[in-house]
Amino acid sequence: MQSNRTVIRNGRVIDPSQGIDRVADLLIADGKISEITGSPLERAPDGHDVIDASGLVVAPGFIDLHTHLRDPGYEWKETLETGTQAAARGGFTTLCAMPNTDPCQDSAAVIDDVTRRAARTGAVRVLTIGAITKGRQGKNLAPMGELAEAGVIGFSDDGDPVSDPNIMRQALSYASSLGLPIINHAEERSLVRGGVMSEGEVATRLGLPGVPASAEAVMIARDIELTALTGGRLHVPHVSTAASVALIRVAKSRGLKVTAEVTPHHLSLTDSWVYGLHGEVPETVPPEAYDTNAKVNPPLRTAADVAALIEALADGTIDVIATDHAPHAATDKVCTFNEAAHGINVLETAFGQVMRLTHAGFISLPELIRRLTEHPAAILGAETGSLAKGRAADIVLLDPDAEWTVRPESFASLSRNTPLAGVTLRGRVVATVFGGNTVWDVRTAAAQTEVATS
Ligand code: DOR
Repeated sequence: MQSNRTVIRNGRVIDPSQGIDRVADLLIADGKISEITGSPLERAPDGHDVIDASGLVVAPGFIDLHTHLRDPGYEWKETLETGTQAAARGGFTTLCAMPNTDPCQDSAAVIDDVTRRAARTGAVRVLTIGAITKGRQGKNLAPMGELAEAGVIGFSDDGDPVSDPNIMRQALSYASSLGLPIINHAEERSLVRGGVMSEGEVATRLGLPGVPASAEAVMIARDIELTALTGGRLHVPHVSTAASVALIRVAKSRGLKVTAEVTPHHLSLTDSWVYGLHGEVPETVPPEAYDTNAKVNPPLRTAADVAALIEALADGTIDVIATDHAPHAATDKVCTFNEAAHGINVLETAFGQVMRLTHAGFISLPELIRRLTEHPAAILGAETGSLAKGRAADIVLLDPDAEWTVRPESFASLSRNTPLAGVTLRGRVVATVFGGNTVWDVRTAAAQTEVATS
């Protein structure tokens, strides 16, 4: 039983929302932040549980704007319980659940069901995203007012685009009157034509049909113009190409209400990962090709795209890092590349993946944290993502330098579909506190993940 008062001692507290970056103690009372001291206290105050953060970073819990929890309908891949446990291990205290469930999240009844069950069984907070169209079929708008009243934080048919421009126009208009964003899966299907990975040299060598970068950019350009037409709010999910970045940059300079997200995998992996050799480019195609765990939509792109995405994240063109956590069962991945499901399991590896950008000098640690906390909170219009006094005590303890090896078999997630198995990452979530309660602490958990001896 945890007491209602806790002190997190001696950590480097980084809270971008308040411009705080100092070694301090953080006090929690009744599930809320009560104080960040000017410097560490000489001794822990009486009656407090103590969490030692010496040598660690203390930051607001991460917020993921884009998570596939698969529940209801695909509970063999993930459930609200396992998905939120995976989130806790990854430092996320708020998830936004995408609506491609079965039944899909296109009615207040399904939203209520997910919200209620998540509150009961979830390790962290689950917010919901409503479908844009009924059944995610792209034909008729879902009851957006009813969904907004039920508490959705935005609308998306993610996994599928809204192809009809007039439906997209209506969606942006209605959502705008509700004060919510449209999150359109940006993919012009007539350009995809059965493509399963990025069009280019790797696809050609592997004999796999490719998807051109313009399949994404064409749809984003359309959506930007419809945003200008309607005055609506557009949030572009999982941006993957340099061309898309250029369009978003111009849209922002026009003053349009456009925000964007990028995933840890699009920031760190290229299409060479499809070879199955952790990104190495072989002289001849090896028997290991292909790694279906590197199949994702949008697909992994070129090194030039990755560089453009990193630059855009650093300069603010891309607002947030979101995981697009997309768990899939072994049977969805142990098959040909063409047959394999799209999606990567990300929640538990995200921080280690994106810390690479900070270690490489592309973005400072406070700015990286801002894109996982303050910026997504601003898009949600939520009070989370901050360690300000009185806010929910959603907190993460990080060791930016700890090296650890990804072992999918010990994930909390029900699925194992990551191309990073066996890869050593530098940057680790040590503990996660949600509403004042510790929901993950690697120091007390049985050796779930092996720390690399370095
Ligand atoms: O790779 C993906 N997987 N991209 C999506 O847009 C959907 C997701 C899923 O639901 O599996």
